[in-house]
Order: sequence, then C-alpha cells, then structure tokens
Amino acid sequence: MKKILITGGAGFIGSTLSRLLVLKGYNVTILDNFSEKIHGDNYMESFLFKKLPLECRIIKGDVRDKQLMIETLNSVDTIIHLAAETGTGQSMYDIDNYFDVNVMGTANILDIITNHKIKISKIILASSRSVYGEGKYLCENHGVIYPDSRKQSRLVNEKYDCYCPHCDLVLKSIPTDEKSWTNPDSIYAVTKLAQEQMIKAQCAALNIEYTILRFQNVYGAGQSLTNPYTGILSIFSRLLLENQEINIFEDGYESRDFINVEDVAEGIYKALITNFDTTNTVFNIGSGNSISVLEIAETLKKYYHSKSNIRISGDFRLGDIRHNKADVTYALEYLNWEPRISFEDGIKKFAEWVQSQKESYKMKSSQYDESLDELKERGLLVDRNNN
Ligand SMILES: NC(=O)c1ccc[n+]([C@@H]2O[C@H](COP(=O)([O-])OP(=O)(O)OC[C@H]3O[C@@H](n4cnc5c(N)ncnc54)[C@H](O)[C@@H]3O)[C@@H](O)[C@H]2O)c1
Ligand SMILES: [Zn+2]
Repeated sequence: MKKILITGGAGFIGSTLSRLLVLKGYNVTILDNFSEKIHGDNYMESFLFKKLPLECRIIKGDVRDKQLMIETLNSVDTIIHLAAETGTGQSMYDIDNYFDVNVMGTANILDIITNHKIKISKIILASSRSVYGEGKYLCENHGVIYPDSRKQSRLVNEKYDCYCPHCDLVLKSIPTDEKSWTNPDSIYAVTKLAQEQMIKAQCAALNIEYTILRFQNVYGAGQSLTNPYTGILSIFSRLLLENQEINIFEDGYESRDFINVEDVAEGIYKALITNFDTTNTVFNIGSGNSISVLEIAETLKKYYHSKSNIRISGDFRLGDIRHNKADVTYALEYLNWEPRISFEDGIKKFAEWVQSQKESYKMKSSQYDESLDELKERGLLVDRNNN
C-alpha cells in the first residue's frame, strides 16, 4: 500500500482527506505546522486536530524546514501537497510570507526530491480556481473572452460586470475549463500558478507522475471559524448567529462555485488511484454551478433563524472576481469523479455543524472587522460610506 505524505494535512481539506485515506487503508503521514491562524493558540484542542485519525503519523513542522523534509520525504512514496497560506485578500499585503510558504515551500520539496534522489512516484497539488482570474466569458460579438480584473473606475460607478475589451458589451460568464487562460489577479493566485508550473516542470524532468487539482470555493464541516481572512460561509455564519448586519459587497449578484469538502477529498482520492498518460494532468474540482453571494446570505439566515439585516452596500474589494463556475467534465471523464453533495444539503449540514461548535472556536467579533480594516488601510477595499 502506498505511503502518503499530506502536507498541510491537519487543515480543513487535509483533515477530511486523512480520514478518507486511512479508511481506504493507506499509510498516512501528516506534516503540518499547525499555524495559529487556522488551529488557534492550542492546536490540540481544535476541532481539526481532534478529527485527525489516530492511525496517522503526525509531524509538527514546516514544509520549508530542509532537514525535517529530507527525513519525512525519505519515508513516503506519494505526496499530496496542501500546505499553503490561503487568504486571497491577505496575500495582497503579506506578499513576502505568501511567496515564502507557497512558492519556497514547494521549491524545498522539489529540491530535496531532486538532490537527495528520493523515490517519489506521484505528487498531487492542491491548486485553485484563482489561477484563472476572472475566468471564461462570452461576448455576443467577439466570442470567448478572458477579461482582465475589473477596473476601480467602473466599480465605483456600480458597474460590477466584466466588459468586452473590444466592443465594451457586458460579458456573460460561462463555465471555465482547464484549457482556459490563466490570468492570476492576486498574489495568492500567482503563488498557486507558480506551484503548478514548478511541479509540472520538475516532475516532467524527473519522470514523476503528477496531478494538479484546481479547487473552487471549498466549504463544509471543519472550515475555520476563527480565520477572518477566508471563508465567506464562516464569516456570514458568525455575523448571522450574533444577529449583526451583513455587508454584502457589490450588488450581491457576484457568484461563486461552492464544492463540499467531502467531494473534494473524494476528488483527491480519485486522482491518487488514477494513472495518467502525460496529457491530462490538470482538473477542475467544483460543483459546476454558481450561487450568488446574496443567495448564500439569505439561505444561511433562514437556517440560523437570524434577525440580521442583509445590507447590499456596493463596497468592493479590488482583485475580487465577479463570477465563477467550473467546467468539470474532464474530472468526470478522466478521474471518474463528480460532485455528489448538493449545495442545499451541504449548506444545511454546514449550518448544523457551525451551531454545534463551542463558542470558543468561533471568530471573535472584532477579528473580521480588523481584517477588513487591514484591506481598507491599504486601499484594497473601497467602502462607500467612509472612503
Ligand atoms: N479551501 C478552499 O476553498 C481552497 C480553494 C482552492 C484551493 N485550496 C488549496 O487547498 C489547500 C488546503 O487548503 P485548506 O482550505 O485546507 O486550508 P487550511 O488553511 O485549512 O489548511 C492548510 C494547512 O497547512 C498548514 N500550513 C500552513 N503553512 C504551513 C507550512 N509552512 N508548513 C506546514 N504546514 C503549513 C496549516 O497549518 C493548515 O493546517 C491549500 O493549498 C489551498 O491553497 C483551498
Ligand atoms: Zn465584444
């Protein structure tokens, strides 16, 4: 049976995946630095830590630690690389750190495999839909268009859509497939694309099989309720449970493709058991549907019986995309994977899980506001009332 290393294996996706792989009988090693942002100041008490299967070997350490990674990589034959800094907004002002963890962490792994002649048979990388930037759109006159980031001058005038660069018509969002242009518009996205390209280049040179999975917005039980930088469902949940106002950015019709974490773990498992030729190595893992941010807020409000006011503010974050919906036909065709959990079922279960969590796990009220202030101070969030 394969010996698998999951870097970042104690995180949201990693903890769900570890359980699945242990159930399937794999020998699983988790290497994770238990970053405080995700696991709190006492990681052993966290929901994620308690969820980790007893059968796993757990190593507390950093993917950038050369000596530790030499020892760890020598004891496995397959790597599932999940360890990363993951906040898109935060990446825009914590640039050094995002590059260090995401790019140099990956560089360290590849460097060790190469120079210490470690026999690895497969690497699976957790990449992100963010590498596409705005993604794939259609113009009535010009066909397929991959628009650049939306301009601040338009956003301030409440023009939130993407426009054709040739004729200025409003573009229609269509499912983004893996052959679409990559066009990262955040530092986080740049680091994810760099990870992809490093793995592609070096695995090809070393004749190591690799699979790159581009996850859409992953949600579900275990997602951090304490990290104010990621996870719209967590952020809305906290506000709704405290009956505080929700500030919906733009006009509320911006949309995302939400995929349940159980489906994502299954997708990684399918990538693990599928052998490829070298042509199809990149797969979108998403639901193939988009849900507007307003609909998410209203659905959660209903489940929590909240009295929160939902305010569509017209505020906007620079670098945010307008719409997202993945084309997942390749994953079905080549990985025999498709999403099984509907958003309706998944979000209901998620809301039940949030309510079952102790108060101490939840984000402190002020933390989310502070994270928005950090963006505002740097001109990355435009707040119509104060700016
Ligand atoms: N959650 C999503 O919506 C989503 C979407 C697209 C891609 N991804 C990617 O999936 C992967 C996992 O994401 P997640 O949502 O589980 O995030 P997460 O933050 O819950 O998990 C990441 C884990 O990595 C660990 N980690 C961070 N820096 C590390 C370091 N230097 N050394 C060792 N461990 C370190 C953290 O402690 C954490 O346990 C990431 O690569 C992320 O970019 C996630
Ligand atoms: Zn056009």
